[in-house]
Amino acid sequence: MKDLDKLAVDAQRLAHAPYSKFRVGAAVEMADGKRYTGANIENASYGLAICAERTAIFGAVLAGSRHLREVSVCTDVSPPSSPCGACRQVLLEFSPDPTAVTITAINPQGERRSWTLAQLIPDGFTGKELP
Ligand code: THU
Repeated sequence: MKDLDKLAVDAQRLAHAPYSKFRVGAAVEMADGKRYTGANIENASYGLAICAERTAIFGAVLAGSRHLREVSVCTDVSPPSSPCGACRQVLLEFSPDPTAVTITAINPQGERRSWTLAQLIPDGFTGKELP
């Protein structure tokens, strides 16, 4: 298993998912080589849940890294679950070249599925259209 995958597996233990029971761990590698991890954090007010991918990328941004290179996401399901639409959009914000960003979904049994971010969110909204 790749190092980034191991970080995502370890981060999954930190998930706070008592409502959905769907535990997710994520790890991001930034262009500067630094890595950050995240997990989903739910709330008794269900709509306040935040996904693992977003807690990971927000950690990177808050540490000063803003250029995404690679993501690994760990769930317990088979086939491994890909990032939700909201997370795809947030990852795009920090991906100057989405064709160069690899997203890999894994599970603890060792299954893997990979895409580029460009495949997961083709023709995404990047803000170029904004005034
Ligand atoms: N979840 C993630 O952490 N990442 C995704 O990409 C999909 C969904 C979380 C949110 C919620 O805590 C639980 O999984 C069920 O939707």
